[in-house]
Amino acid sequence: MKTTIIREINDETMFLAGKVIKDGGIVAFPTETVYGLGASAYDEAAVNKIYKAKGRPSDNPLIVHISSVDDVGKVAREIPENAKKLLDAFAPGPFTLILKKQPSIPNTVTAGLDTVGVRIPADEIAREFIKAAGVPIAAPSANISGKPSPTKSEHVILDMDGRADAIICGKNAEVGVESTIIDVTGEIPVILRPGGITLEDVKRVCGNAEVDKNVLKGVSKNERPKCPGMKYKHYAPDADVTVIEGDKKATKEKILELVKLANNNGKRVGVLAASEDDFGADLFISEGKNNRDFANILFDALREFDKNNIDVAYVELSMDDSLELAVKNRVYKSAGNKIIYVGEKA
Ligand code: TXA
Ligand code: MG
Repeated sequence: MKTTIIREINDETMFLAGKVIKDGGIVAFPTETVYGLGASAYDEAAVNKIYKAKGRPSDNPLIVHISSVDDVGKVAREIPENAKKLLDAFAPGPFTLILKKQPSIPNTVTAGLDTVGVRIPADEIAREFIKAAGVPIAAPSANISGKPSPTKSEHVILDMDGRADAIICGKNAEVGVESTIIDVTGEIPVILRPGGITLEDVKRVCGNAEVDKNVLKGVSKNERPKCPGMKYKHYAPDADVTVIEGDKKATKEKILELVKLANNNGKRVGVLAASEDDFGADLFISEGKNNRDFANILFDALREFDKNNIDVAYVELSMDDSLELAVKNRVYKSAGNKIIYVGEKA
């Protein structure tokens, strides 16, 4: 398939991208969280192209993207009080609401569930594109299934050139991890996937909220998690990732020891850590000052490991602030839950 790469954003190119959707095609587009791969939510054949392009299991539903709060009712048949409060407080922004779906949203989008994920991205290009398409846009992250989500246009081109009809190249994603998924169909809002809108944010607005128990632990084979995506491999580079978690002094010592060991075994080693010291690794990437920076560079760093043929990678986890849960959730998954606890937290 020939992919049209759209580098200039103007009325003409947005019209073109909208037309690709109207003609049943699939288009990758930027958002403030990660890039998405979109199709008309009403077009089952187009939605199936997304599953195929990503190699995504068909029982993992897609989020439906709209350009304005006014359109929520087109996708959802009920808008509970907590949903209204969250939309008032944070829309457009990096969160997705799980709501009862309208019958017009096909089962292919929701993987047979009676609910639908609804998201209004803050990114202007995303909203211009959705408006140009004139329909709600069903879209997962624009990566090959199992790989780190794309936060830069070059990541999308790497994964989707030849698989998508068009790719809109926008800015690097500002948040860098996917939207917070909040189930508002019950009494208390439940966070199914942590992200830029935090548990504290939701509590402040709704009075109460909880985090689903599967967010940080692996899901066992026969379990049916509330968020189907929880049971699949995620964010995994080819490099073998291990998380080193604990207080700073202990994590540093442990990483130094492990890098030496891996070097002695002839392996190429990558380290992603909060330190300025490079640990003598073949590729060292700094996490930045806080979890906002860490979230922002994480997926790019995981892709850098592969670009640099890294065999084993160590990721330090020693910071805690409001984004801790979002970062931990991604880092644990990228490591397939291989975690070494050191020092006080052990
Ligand atoms: O930030 C984001 O949410 C990005 C951008 C492109 O908007 N999208 C994204 O989509 O991360 P995806 O497909 O990579 O992740 C969607 C997650 C999956 O884990 C899926 O199982 C879950 O949302 N999901 C979708 N619909 C659901 C539903 N009705 N109930 C529970 N979970 C749902
Ligand atoms: Mg994804």
